Amino acid sequence: MKILFYGTKDYDQYFFDKLKPEYPHIEFVFIESNLYRETASLAAGYDGICAFVNADLGETVLEELRHQGIRLILMRCAGYNNVDIQKAKECAIKVLRVPGYSPEAVAEHAMALVLTANRHTHKAYIKCRENNFSLNGLMGVNLYGKTAGIVGTGKIGMAMARICNGFGMKILAYDLYPNMESDLEYVSLDRLLAVSDLISLHCPLTPETHHMINNESISRMKDGVILVNTSRGGLICTDDLIAGIRDHKFQAVGLDVYEEESDFVYEDMSEYILKTSTVQRLLSFPNVALTSHQGFFTEEALTNIAETTLQNAEAFRTGLDLKNEVQN
Ligand code: NAI
Repeated sequence: MKILFYGTKDYDQYFFDKLKPEYPHIEFVFIESNLYRETASLAAGYDGICAFVNADLGETVLEELRHQGIRLILMRCAGYNNVDIQKAKECAIKVLRVPGYSPEAVAEHAMALVLTANRHTHKAYIKCRENNFSLNGLMGVNLYGKTAGIVGTGKIGMAMARICNGFGMKILAYDLYPNMESDLEYVSLDRLLAVSDLISLHCPLTPETHHMINNESISRMKDGVILVNTSRGGLICTDDLIAGIRDHKFQAVGLDVYEEESDFVYEDMSEYILKTSTVQRLLSFPNVALTSHQGFFTEEALTNIAETTLQNAEAFRTGLDLKNEVQN
């Protein structure tokens, strides 16, 4: 079976290549180009393709992949909001993903963003490098004894709850489908927004959750709240967030994901004049810490991603049960 890996970097190849000997019947070809309308035809002659969070797997691309004979899409990630699942079904293309490859990797990064934005360690580091040892502008707040509101208590949300618990925080949770086996205290989203000192987003991006953080929901939050998003940029209406930051609503904001990131995520754009200014506007605020969708980026997570992606491919190849198939 031949698989074309789109949008790969050296680190992707490294972790997949390590497993090559275990999968003698699968041929991997890695290309740097990402998957979009103009590159979909490169899939000609392959059985499947492997893609990441920033690939375009909308209707047109899926139609082209079907035309090229693709029967399998291996998402080397957990989220699949960039895949038109209904269209994939119509095209008889199976979509498999890697659920929960390392929830701790993402949750630990969420807490790193909270600590960075709240205690301004990103600013402090630069100041110290310039021999500026003044503490002006670096004041934060304690997390101990405060309330953490976890939105979405799946694998990553649960890991974040454990971390916040370790910081001595009280945990409140909101989920459409509460985890009854957990001892989390579930409340309505309204209540969570109203009483949390830290709000951490861990639900998927769906039509329901799109812009769940907007003018209206921000107005219901406590003044001085800390907001962190390591889930998907579309959960937050960026313009409303920027307005809220300007109104001094937030103690700190940590973002690993943001709207418009797909234009340049994982690319070195330092030599380019960007067409959009969202990131620059966010970075202009001293209480915002921003990273480029790197929550997953640990050795353990990349190892698990490679292992599960190849197990998914092998299950498809040998006709086994596709336990990681995306159904809806
Ligand atoms: P999961 O599927 O284990 O958990 C998601 C939870 O959200 C579930 O409990 C579900 O019931 C809940 N949920 C669904 N719709 C909801 C709604 N409307 N309101 C409230 N809760 C809702 O997923 P997991 O592994 O915890 O990942 C969460 C998200 O993290 C993914 O969807 C993905 O977008 C993001 N992610 C980000 C990464 C990064 O590198 N920054 C890496 C991996 C995932």
